[in-house]
Amino acid sequence: MSETPNIPDDHQTNTELNQTKKKRNKNRKNSVKVEQSDTNGAVEETKMPPTISVQDIQKAMEIFSLQQRAAKTPAEALHKQYKFWYTQPVPKMTETILNDGPIEEDKTIDQIRNEPFTLPEDFQWDTLSLDDPFVLKELYTLLNENYVEDEDSMFRFDYQPHFLKWALQPPGWLKEWHVGVRVVKSNKLVGFISAIPALLKVYNKSQKMVEINFLCVHKRLRSKRVAPVLIREITRRVNQTGIFQAVYTAGIVLPKPIGTCRYWHRSLNPKKLIDVKFSHLSRNMTMQRTLKLHKLPDSIRTPGFRKLTEKDLPQARKLLSNYMKTFDLSPMFSDEEFKHWFLPQEGIIDAYVVENNNKITDLVSFYTLPSTIMHHPTYRTLKAAYSFYNVSTKTPWIELMQDALISARDANFDVFNALDLMDNKEFLEPLKFGVGDGNLQYYLYNWKCPEIHSSKIGLILQ
Ligand SMILES: CC(C)(COP(=O)(O)OP(=O)(O)OC[C@H]1O[C@@H](n2cnc3c(N)ncnc32)[C@H](O)[C@@H]1OP(=O)(O)O)[C@@H](O)C(=O)NCCC(=O)NCCS
Repeated sequence: MSETPNIPDDHQTNTELNQTKKKRNKNRKNSVKVEQSDTNGAVEETKMPPTISVQDIQKAMEIFSLQQRAAKTPAEALHKQYKFWYTQPVPKMTETILNDGPIEEDKTIDQIRNEPFTLPEDFQWDTLSLDDPFVLKELYTLLNENYVEDEDSMFRFDYQPHFLKWALQPPGWLKEWHVGVRVVKSNKLVGFISAIPALLKVYNKSQKMVEINFLCVHKRLRSKRVAPVLIREITRRVNQTGIFQAVYTAGIVLPKPIGTCRYWHRSLNPKKLIDVKFSHLSRNMTMQRTLKLHKLPDSIRTPGFRKLTEKDLPQARKLLSNYMKTFDLSPMFSDEEFKHWFLPQEGIIDAYVVENNNKITDLVSFYTLPSTIMHHPTYRTLKAAYSFYNVSTKTPWIELMQDALISARDANFDVFNALDLMDNKEFLEPLKFGVGDGNLQYYLYNWKCPEIHSSKIGLILQ
């Protein structure tokens, strides 16, 4: 049974839209009141309780400000109201969870709303055909201009069109799960959310789920409660296919993370990274010493280390799936999915194996995700490799991942990023990765389970 309020879908949308309206009205009322008190200060003054101190006001303002902005830490999240998320089947921030399973029961088909949720006036839904190069370019542009940025707005993810097709069209993908929002008049794409199917193992249960990704609302349409409508709509479309659970990640704290990871960064081109202010010269370090510190061997060290090819797929999949069993959250790839996610594709995904005497003993993989450098006179792009799934059974972690770094450097990547999940802590510090700022939170929708330590998380979303 659900421990969260279970409001029927129709009611939920209305509540969401009404909240937007009410908030606007409330704001209008407030501004009238401020004007009145401005012209009639004495009256307002006598109404003020005499015991309010400057500190009280400062504290109230801090809490108000915390409530307004996205929570970065669980402590900040305790001040949030989560007007949308607390209508959803997710645990409360304060809840401690000891057992695992769905939060609410699967719906029957007649309990699932048939019509799309209502968007604000002037906007309409559009299911995107990513096979159409023009539509793919529209999605590329929306994300390129409006998707995730770092805290200081210096870098923004620049997912390439062919990468988006790889990420959004794995085996079993559905067009209905590529959900766009357009302006009615201009047809401009201003919002997006996606789902792809996945079979996940959570602790010792396997569950058909979707992975939700690429939630994006155009900068000009922010803070108007469009994101909750996108989330409800993708949920409805996924529910219609008989799936009621999802996994997603975010940089912010929402109710309630099942685990928390941190990005680490390994400089491959320290000079450029310092130049574009991705990193900085440490104290007491010259550029010369920094270059020397980050210098990698000239060529691959491990005998039998080579690119993964089609004929390696069965062995490599077996190797990975055995390793994946050791985690509390991990994907269960079919042969077809493994091929999709791992077979190297230029500018999308790289994978290498170590093979000796016809036996594959180790696997490394990383995907290509550049970022736009927003305000730099010479550099426009930061070329980043993101560690995907790695398995070491024979080659020690440090040697294996050093060869991954050398391969990435030789392919002209500026930086190699890795989360501190799976066994990655074995190599992060020894291979001179630096810890990043900000966390990546992992979430499950309509599934509760005890918290999972980062070293037991075995899932990477693009
Ligand atoms: C994330 C984004 C779509 C949110 O839109 P917005 O206009 O800022 O927020 P809205 O007013 O529409 O909705 C606010 C609600 O969405 C929730 N929300 C915000 N970001 C979210 C996220 N990444 N995942 C899930 N829910 C999120 C908020 O918590 C809030 O719900 P609450 O009242 O329960 O707290 C938008 O900020 C954006 O496109 N950002 C850049 C891309 C990005 O960060 N995408 C998410 C990647 S994980």
